[in-house]
Amino acid sequence: MPEPTPTVVTVRAPAKINLHLGVGPVRPDGFHPLATAYQAISLCSSVSASPSTDWSVTCTPGEGIDVAAVPLDDSNLALRAARLLAEHAGVTTPVTLHIDKGIPVAGGLAGGSADGAAALLACDTLWELDTPRSTLLDLAGQLGSDVPFGLVGGSAAGHGRGEVVTPLTDTGRYDWVVLTDPVGMSTPAVYAEFDVLHDGLVVPDPEIPSALVDALAAGDARALAGSVGNDLQPASLRLRPELAEPLQAGLDATALAALVSGSGPTCLFLCEDADHAARVADAVSSYGRAVVASGPVEGATVL
Ligand code: C5P
Repeated sequence: MPEPTPTVVTVRAPAKINLHLGVGPVRPDGFHPLATAYQAISLCSSVSASPSTDWSVTCTPGEGIDVAAVPLDDSNLALRAARLLAEHAGVTTPVTLHIDKGIPVAGGLAGGSADGAAALLACDTLWELDTPRSTLLDLAGQLGSDVPFGLVGGSAAGHGRGEVVTPLTDTGRYDWVVLTDPVGMSTPAVYAEFDVLHDGLVVPDPEIPSALVDALAAGDARALAGSVGNDLQPASLRLRPELAEPLQAGLDATALAALVSGSGPTCLFLCEDADHAARVADAVSSYGRAVVASGPVEGATVL
């Protein structure tokens, strides 16, 4: 007997952090070439897809998350993902999507991209398409630079504008404090500030430090701490100077490393272990919502 067609499929997808974000000179298409090391961490959202009479999306916030800025129209990334896959596969039955948001919005954690990745996999499963992985990754790349990594997860290198994802060997488990800010930041605005800061300068082609690749392979958090970095951080700090305070407070509280996540304003603190992370979280909690997370975790997964 064939399995009955499911009426709802739920997929969980993780937040991403950039362990290292190397940014090159702006390209003619307005994007920046990246050499980044991604890690998926245990802050997740989930997307449920079920057949419907029209295309729609709803969203419920997780604890401490403000979803006021999440569009619920055709510009929603999860809905765009569903429509893109439908168009690609010739599916004409609409779906309704429901997002359970566990990843802060506009925080530099690729929360919208996680929704897009989750929606692609949920619809692929709901429609029993079995789309080849390479095609799903290609569609993901059309949706946004960080969407393919949402499918891949783990620790991975990102090149191109971030959409060319290659898994990295990672034998470790890393404990992070993720300090989120209730007021998000616009990714294009931070990249534009990066351009202003580098106006007239020669911006070298970005590279992932080999010490970082070695640290992940060895699973060595202390070595990793010595090689994390974010070329967007000066731009984020220009737009949000007050972020310098929690970054310093985390270091004063003995975090192994402190950096802005992606385009910000989320700040990340690498810790020795979960107990250490709890202490660092306590030390920075006056600056925002501090949660403890670990990585790497798997990419988008059917629940
Ligand atoms: O790819 P995505 O839609 O997530 O990118 C959002 C914006 O971030 C882009 O429109 C662009 O302004 C900026 N961006 C960039 N270079 C990248 C990725 C994103 O300039 N590699």
